[in-house]
Amino acid sequence: MATTSTPPTPKSPRQQASSVERTKGPSGLEKVVLREARGFSAEVHLYGGQVTSWKNDRGDELLFVSNKATFKPPKAIRGGIPICFPQFGTHGNLEKHGFARNRFWAIDDNPPPFPESTAVKTFVDLILKPSEEDLKIWPHSFEFRLRVALGPGGDLVLISRIRNTNTDGRPFSFTFAYHTYFSVSDISEVRIEGLETLDYIDYLRGKERFTEQGDAIVFESEVDKIYLDAPAKIAIIDHEKKRTFVLRKDGLPDAVLWNPWDKKTKNMQDFGDEEYKHMLCVEPAAVEMPITLKPGEEWKGKMELSAVPSSYCSGQLDPDKEHLMALILSGALAGADAAS
Ligand code: BG6
Repeated sequence: MATTSTPPTPKSPRQQASSVERTKGPSGLEKVVLREARGFSAEVHLYGGQVTSWKNDRGDELLFVSNKATFKPPKAIRGGIPICFPQFGTHGNLEKHGFARNRFWAIDDNPPPFPESTAVKTFVDLILKPSEEDLKIWPHSFEFRLRVALGPGGDLVLISRIRNTNTDGRPFSFTFAYHTYFSVSDISEVRIEGLETLDYIDYLRGKERFTEQGDAIVFESEVDKIYLDAPAKIAIIDHEKKRTFVLRKDGLPDAVLWNPWDKKTKNMQDFGDEEYKHMLCVEPAAVEMPITLKPGEEWKGKMELSAVPSSYCSGQLDPDKEHLMALILSGALAGADAAS
């Protein structure tokens, strides 16, 4: 963990110093709470290595977690940012979306340094290694290091480093996703920018390949698609909230869009009947082309999220400009972007 300083008498989120605190949730599960001086915060459960909360400086929750989420192993927590590894989806004998999301991760007190310098001081490092039982279902030795960082401007950064530690010379292949559940005002008010004209695989139409035709991606029914070779930046625009989530990804070529809508929701015990209206999963992923690592090799996949006020400039959304303005106004520009 990074800093552990907490003032003796915190009065309001805006007056707190930045801190990293290990604590327990109401479920009894251990979590780490990251707080930034201006009131931004994030929570990471050791169960699943899963981010389960990300709040802005007004205390608004930016991620969706179902009111029916159980927080009871071995079920994965429904919401936040589950990690899908060593597979996305269902193939062979491995459980759906792999096992990383329902294993207990450990705090990594001494991770290997990142090659780049870091300006962000509020972060936690976690590690997952396979147990004897895991090796029976996926016979590969690995070290999965996850850094979750909260920037001074409230940006949330997740960096995964996965290393093949097999000692018998065997490579392994995996697929991966940051299964990010965004909280939205109403799904009918949401538009995605960045995925237009891309090819996608539609899980609702026999995993066939199509090309996106619409000018903008909006939501009127169930969606379960993998966009291939998606750009590094995707915007999730919530018109009602006048908020844009800017998602930046690196090392993760694909992007999954998922909303179960009303019918599928009925079969999900840990998801309320009406909750599909208030969430959308946009998941940076490596699915179409599995990643292969030889022993000793390491892969890195990064996701960076920011939430900025939406605005239009001659009909053109420019979240970058908005983000820059927000950072300048909050005085957070110095060192706001480099979490790794
Ligand atoms: C999405 C998949 O990423 O996750 C969907 O594309 C799947 O097919 C959804 O239904 C939820 O999966 P789970 O296992 O968390 O219910």
